[in-house]
Amino acid sequence: MDRTRRGGTDWAGWLRRWDAQQEGYVDRREARFSAMLDVAARLLPASFVALDLACGPGSMSQRLLARFPEARVLAVDIDPVMLEVGRGALGSGGGRLRWIEADLASSEWLSLLGGARVDAAFSSTALHWLEPAALTRLYRDLSRVLPPGGLFLNGDHLPFGPELPTFAGLSERALAEQWSDSEFAARGIETAEQWWEAFAADPAAAPLLAKRKARFAGKRRPETRLDLDAHVAALRDAGFREAGTIWQELSNRVLLAVR
Ligand SMILES: C[S@@+](CC[C@H](N)C(=O)[O-])C[C@H]1O[C@@H](n2cnc3c(N)ncnc32)[C@H](O)[C@@H]1O
Repeated sequence: MDRTRRGGTDWAGWLRRWDAQQEGYVDRREARFSAMLDVAARLLPASFVALDLACGPGSMSQRLLARFPEARVLAVDIDPVMLEVGRGALGSGGGRLRWIEADLASSEWLSLLGGARVDAAFSSTALHWLEPAALTRLYRDLSRVLPPGGLFLNGDHLPFGPELPTFAGLSERALAEQWSDSEFAARGIETAEQWWEAFAADPAAAPLLAKRKARFAGKRRPETRLDLDAHVAALRDAGFREAGTIWQELSNRVLLAVR
């Protein structure tokens, strides 16, 4: 039986559908991924070990493995649903992909690495889920795990700071429009809520959703996002020697930090 259809569930289909709805939230998502991969191609050796932080169902991991045949990826996420979709769709990536269930808001993920060497960390559309104190701790932990010269690449909406009110307003208005239900409908793209509703009807969903509910108990998304300057300052405090934007469309950016 096709592994990606295990148990009657089309896991690869759920991953494709995930990517399609994420494109509604992140303009030029594929170009953003490519910008991150291009940096890795220029700055890392052919064989490297990467973390995919808050990997979801593995969109970043999948692209890393496809572009770098000698790379290995450790994909970390708190959500048992996301991890199961990823495992079902991508499996172990031919022995090069390991899935790790951990909460990045604590340092538990470090102990689950089992002393693995890590050369770079990637993250896409995810770290805004962490409160500032948790993000600061994550950056410190990353700085401990990465060797000198190790890379951190984060693709996310990283807002403009208060010193650029016109830029911030422009970007916020563009996002409010892009993320409205009417805009999703006009573009024929499913929203994240619609993806979750559809997944809930899959025969495999019920036990996974129960585990998910328990894992997220008491958690909520922070109300505000740290601005770019706060990310850069936190990374430098954590021991990264360089940090800055290498790709951008308004607040949609790729931040590169070098340990
Ligand atoms: C919008 S999704 C992005 C997933 C994927 N990186 C992508 O680009 O498609 C955000 C991800 O962050 C994960 N996440 C949120 N809080 C987390 C935490 N405290 N620890 C680990 N993962 C977390 C969620 O489970 C989800 O998979």
